[in-house]
Amino acid sequence: MEISVNQQIITYDEAGAGLPVIFIHGYPLDRSIWAAQISGLADAAHVISLDLPGHGGSQPAAEPTTMEFFAARVAAFLDAKKIDRPVVLCGLSMGGYVSMAFARLYPQRLAGLIFTATRAAPDSEEARQNRTKSIETVQKEGSAPVVSGMLPKLVSPATPQQQPALVDAIKHIMQGVPPATVMADLAGLRDRSDSRPTLKELHLPVCFIHGADDQIIPPKEAEEMHAMVPGSTLEIIPAAGHLLNMEQPEQFNSIVRKFLLTLR
Ligand code: MLT
Repeated sequence: MEISVNQQIITYDEAGAGLPVIFIHGYPLDRSIWAAQISGLADAAHVISLDLPGHGGSQPAAEPTTMEFFAARVAAFLDAKKIDRPVVLCGLSMGGYVSMAFARLYPQRLAGLIFTATRAAPDSEEARQNRTKSIETVQKEGSAPVVSGMLPKLVSPATPQQQPALVDAIKHIMQGVPPATVMADLAGLRDRSDSRPTLKELHLPVCFIHGADDQIIPPKEAEEMHAMVPGSTLEIIPAAGHLLNMEQPEQFNSIVRKFLLTLR
């Protein structure tokens, strides 16, 4: 499906009814990573996955894609969809950074937050330099080297053998993200702010879900974030890496389902 948001097309999938739960993908991915959540949780909520500008079928933005810009587009998407009741955001990795920016900008629009395989801390100086190097690489050679370097780290070391078709599907999604979007994402990721103060000020139900084998963001960081948010829950999924919702969709969905029940 598609909708015009600020005169630009945003593509999305939706199913179910009731409490809106908005799924926000990571980098360099698109909404299709949430297919198993849209089909598997449609009986529990009004589930929606959207493509951030420049990803999937959504038109690219002219503005720099900061996490705040993406958060503002999510809010404008909700307006376009006439969703004015508070929603749950479920953001994976970069989608989690976007959710943290959303919590800063629009706290009154939130009923709860599900932080998936994400972190609140900003990039270290070394990580920032690596983002800049990656931008230069994509500029010169396209996104293939970035995709091939990142792919093995996105899943549990056990997943390529156990689910080779899934790894191919993830590669296909990454290859479909235009190089200009990859570069814009990298700049937004590099320059994002420290969201730890935001976490400490959250006064709403929060659930952290993390893969035990996440090679991009170690589970220790999820434990640290969980400790910053009183009353939050933390679930670690075994045999899952950074894309835990794709690698172990049933376990992931049952955790989300349980969390949504606490919001009733
Ligand atoms: C993501 O999955 O969105 C990225 O790994 C986030 C990041 O590189 O910080």
